[in-house]
Amino acid sequence: MKPRLLQLCTLMPSTQASLDALYEVHHWPEPPLREAWLRDHAAETRAVVTGGHVGIDTALASRLPKLGIVAINGVGYDRIDLGAARQAGFRVTNTPDVLTDDVADLAIGLMIGAMRNLAAVDRHVRDGLWSQSQPALAHRASGLRYGIVGLGRIGRAIATRLAGFGGSIAYTSPKPKAGNFDYYPDAVTLASVSDVLFIATAASPATKGLIGRAVLDALGPKGLVINVARGSLIDETALVQALVEGRIAGAGLDVFVDEPNVPPALLTLPQVLLTPHIGSATTETRQAMGRLMLDNLEAFFAGRPLPTAVV
Ligand code: DGY
Repeated sequence: MKPRLLQLCTLMPSTQASLDALYEVHHWPEPPLREAWLRDHAAETRAVVTGGHVGIDTALASRLPKLGIVAINGVGYDRIDLGAARQAGFRVTNTPDVLTDDVADLAIGLMIGAMRNLAAVDRHVRDGLWSQSQPALAHRASGLRYGIVGLGRIGRAIATRLAGFGGSIAYTSPKPKAGNFDYYPDAVTLASVSDVLFIATAASPATKGLIGRAVLDALGPKGLVINVARGSLIDETALVQALVEGRIAGAGLDVFVDEPNVPPALLTLPQVLLTPHIGSATTETRQAMGRLMLDNLEAFFAGRPLPTAVV
């Protein structure tokens, strides 16, 4: 008999096919059907598959008495209470490393896109305006002072790419890390010596709203914010205000506080480049993430060490 598993997120078709072949997969139903599902299936469900930005509610996990593993098809685990997982005795796995390059690529893409107004000039060509006018001049993306909040895997990969841009690279993190980049102990000081501030740190209750008014004001009216981590790291109201009032120059944002809802004011600001949480959304990376998520499940059911355990 195939082990029973509850799936909370969508997966790419090839990963879904592999999951369906190996497990009795139940998709989390719409709210009116949930109690009936729990009554009929919760007792035998040993695994949950979820996305980084979906996680699992502690209340739902506590309704699954045989839950042994929550396998995240993503790197972030901010939507899971790890203390509750430890207490309840279920494991949590994620998919680190395989998505690092894609997320770092997107961060650089957002910076270039925002500095060079790529969305607007693309529209200029499509709207047939090229023969009538030249778009407004943009700003240079290279040779700047780059600041990175969080020098973990993704932050480092951003720094590696930035090394080719001919500017300076500095970072903040709870402790200095090995390497040649300049360290600043807090985000305000880092922002005060940066033209572009990349947010690449993990979200947690401790880092909620880390990038608030003080950081944005330290970055200043020529500064650009790039966020490829989690929306909760930025005080979104303060960010919108700073953009509207011209206290920072622009932003490139892949993540938001209440996805898929984007603050309406951001939609009207030409100096903001928006993407729909696509950091890891390439065929190659999603395949690799799916494989790693499946490897974690397989190891769990075989009683082997989990390849990429968080807890
Ligand atoms: C991740 O892997 O955490 C991505 O941001 C998707 O949530």
